[in-house]
Amino acid sequence: MEVCLQDPQHGYYTQGNGIGREGDFITAPEISPLFGELIAAWLMMAWETLGRPPFFRLVELGPGKGTLMQDILRTSRVLPEFHKGCLVHLIELSPSFQKIQQETLQKEKGTSMAWHTTLEEVPEDYPLFFIANEFFDALPFHQFFYTGEEWRERRVGWREPEGLTWELSPAPLGETLLKKILKKKEAQLSPYKGACGEVSPESLNQAQALRHRLLSQGGAGLIIDYGYEQGYGDTFQALSRHEYVSVLSHPGEVDLTAHVDFGALSQVFSSFPQLSVYGPLSQHEFLRDLHIEERARIVKKTASNPAKIDMDVHRLVDLSQMGGLFKVLGILSSK
Ligand SMILES: C[S@@+](CC[C@H](N)C(=O)[O-])C[C@H]1O[C@@H](n2cnc3c(N)ncnc32)[C@H](O)[C@@H]1O
Repeated sequence: MEVCLQDPQHGYYTQGNGIGREGDFITAPEISPLFGELIAAWLMMAWETLGRPPFFRLVELGPGKGTLMQDILRTSRVLPEFHKGCLVHLIELSPSFQKIQQETLQKEKGTSMAWHTTLEEVPEDYPLFFIANEFFDALPFHQFFYTGEEWRERRVGWREPEGLTWELSPAPLGETLLKKILKKKEAQLSPYKGACGEVSPESLNQAQALRHRLLSQGGAGLIIDYGYEQGYGDTFQALSRHEYVSVLSHPGEVDLTAHVDFGALSQVFSSFPQLSVYGPLSQHEFLRDLHIEERARIVKKTASNPAKIDMDVHRLVDLSQMGGLFKVLGILSSK
């Protein structure tokens, strides 16, 4: 997955052209600017709660086309102190996406903006506010299958003439590794034959790095993605032109993702008295709590195509669409 998405020459994200109605998949900020407006509202509320720090680091992980940051900055002009105080950092691995983001954000002249490939490059000083929308689902992960007697890792192999194939590791997982990897799920559920457990050490590392920043700098953040809180299941998927395709077909040419384990992510932030964790709640609840429907009613009064606004909002909040599939985890520090 890492090679297919991130290879500096052939990786899918390296090409940087998959997002949008014309691409392979569409994300919430690309559906409606109301999404970014409400994220901005949440960030401004968190900033107020933390005592309106005069300067802060506003970090976006995996900013795609830069649309979400553009909407956040546009909206935050209603609160000039917030807008003036924000030092923007975009964490983006792909040079093509960095270029697209720079083009999208070039109008934001007065705002300090820096691009990085990892969070480590962001200075560890002022409070840090972060947003990660559909970032964690793009991080590599491992899959383990229960044979009825033992757990084995699922790996990708090569066989002639089929090409890429699924293989199971020749040896079962050792007790120590098993306990470490499947600890939470083992404790909650007994596996059944064919059960698939998924673990993303890279996601946990990223979440721990964010936790470290919130503990040392103070701040708040939102993680939004499709995901689950517990349970077994094979969630590996590939999208091409808005259709599901086999994950082994067209390596490097299709978007590969896995559902995010929100149970594991929220555990990273909980049990620290300095941090309050909200959710995970559904995107439906989150956007409705922030009054998306009220905001849509106002915007529709002057819109040339009000029906489209209704359709887009429906797609974002409806429980049978993104509203139910997507979860939101909020974290707020106490200082
Ligand atoms: C699915 S897109 C989401 C884009 C955007 N957040 C949105 O909502 O439209 C994933 C983004 O994360 C970036 N990305 C993936 N893995 C990354 C990593 N390990 N570090 C930094 N950026 C990464 C991709 O290049 C892309 O910009």
